[in-house]
Amino acid sequence: MKVVICANYDEVSVKAAQLVEAQILGNDHSVLGLATGSTPLGLYERLVEGVKLRGISYKNVCTINLDEYLGLDKGHPESYRTFMTENLFDKIDIVIGNTYIPDGTSDSAEECLRYEQVIDSVGPIDLQVLGIGRNGHIGFNEPGTDSNSLTHVVELVASTRESNARFFPSIDEVPTHAITTGIKSILKSKEIILLASGKDKAEAVRTLLNKDVTESFPASILWNHDNVTLIVDRDAYELVKS
Ligand code: PGA
Repeated sequence: MKVVICANYDEVSVKAAQLVEAQILGNDHSVLGLATGSTPLGLYERLVEGVKLRGISYKNVCTINLDEYLGLDKGHPESYRTFMTENLFDKIDIVIGNTYIPDGTSDSAEECLRYEQVIDSVGPIDLQVLGIGRNGHIGFNEPGTDSNSLTHVVELVASTRESNARFFPSIDEVPTHAITTGIKSILKSKEIILLASGKDKAEAVRTLLNKDVTESFPASILWNHDNVTLIVDRDAYELVKS
């Protein structure tokens, strides 16, 4: 795992955008793996800027998102489809038919199988963008998830629902389940960039950089992949001993 230490969140976003744009410039038919959450928002702003200022085109790019809440219609204001539409897809020249996100309303077992097939047939993903949860989750793969997992349904742990409650009118409205690509699905990507910013990720970054590979800290399984770059700001890096 390569580690890139940045001064602040903006620099994390710029660095990540440079890697994404370099990927697209190298292959305009790239397949990107995308994440939701607060962390990639700055990256998505930079990518939008790249279309306008640097002439980057997503006309032939495909995207495959990590996860979706179960039970939310794709038009729901807090669905991950809506998040991606509002923060990225509507602002770049991507073909919406080339953007893949699990369908949180379809029969979940069948949807999991279908989505894993999307990862294999549209993919392999050239560059996967990941965030890290405070408990080390990647996608919605919570601690204890089988490292051989493919796309599956998960029950969200209390801390994840609490953390995501900020986007909903009340915690009762945060879905209890989600469809997520599995750890093995994520490891199929050719290259992975893991973004971490802010003091509330410092403990997770320290644990990750201990290099103790364990299913109780899902992000640590990324040590088994040979092309991962952690892009981290100083706040998130502050507990790592030099
Ligand atoms: P965040 O979420 O970017 O909103 O902090 C990251 C994650 O939980 O994977």
